[in-house]
Amino acid sequence: MNVIKALNWRYSTKDFDPNKKISEKDFVKVKEILRMSPSSTNLQPWHFIIANSDEGKKRMAKGTQGFFIFNEAKILNASHVILFCSRLSADNDYMQHLLDVEDNDGRFPNEEIKQNVNGGRNAFAAIHKYDLKDLQHWMEKQVYLNIGNFLLGVATLGIDACPMEGVDMKALDEEFGLREKGFTAITAVSIGYRTESDFNTTDKTPKSRLSEQETMTIL
Ligand SMILES: Cc1cc2nc3c(=O)[nH]c(=O)nc-3n(C[C@H](O)[C@H](O)[C@H](O)COP(=O)(O)O)c2cc1C
Repeated sequence: MNVIKALNWRYSTKDFDPNKKISEKDFVKVKEILRMSPSSTNLQPWHFIIANSDEGKKRMAKGTQGFFIFNEAKILNASHVILFCSRLSADNDYMQHLLDVEDNDGRFPNEEIKQNVNGGRNAFAAIHKYDLKDLQHWMEKQVYLNIGNFLLGVATLGIDACPMEGVDMKALDEEFGLREKGFTAITAVSIGYRTESDFNTTDKTPKSRLSEQETMTIL
């Protein structure tokens, strides 16, 4: 599906068909979309908990109790649910690990380029840690970039999605032991296939966006 078509086809699906499961072939692509997102300095400060079973979705639904109950069915009836998590720190070990992976992948034609990339990444991280004091927020922004990439990416595959900030992140941090592992939950995204009766399909409730005139200044 081309990009403009996908952007108009996709909508936040409120009612997933519990009987429709994403194929193994598409699941491979879904995982590749998650992994291939760009991030500032290639920091990739994320981890994905993916519910691919009823048991996994039940665990994920522990984040939709109480106030967030309106999102419970979107998790239980989806094919898969991805919990996007952000790193809590970018320490020297992690920075070295990134550099090693890039080196193995052939990113550095010579030692000077390697040291420049390493220096640049550490300099950006230091600016956010010490000057702006927003290192975690900066890493979270990279996770949101991945989420945007993901919503469009799965739409091109004809897969429906619902992003959900309406989830108890603390409960999910606890459920998956995320903080101990150096991560925290940011947003969940359910994926699968819409039901015909979903009230939010675009033929019943068309998409609404601010106009080009209001949102753009073209020079
Ligand atoms: C980061 C984010 C969090 C959202 N959280 C929820 C949510 O918890 N529950 C829900 O039903 N929709 C949620 N939405 C869906 C938005 O309301 C929806 O994207 C917006 O109204 C635009 O409509 P569209 O996605 O159908 O084009 C969220 C969307 C984003 C991008």
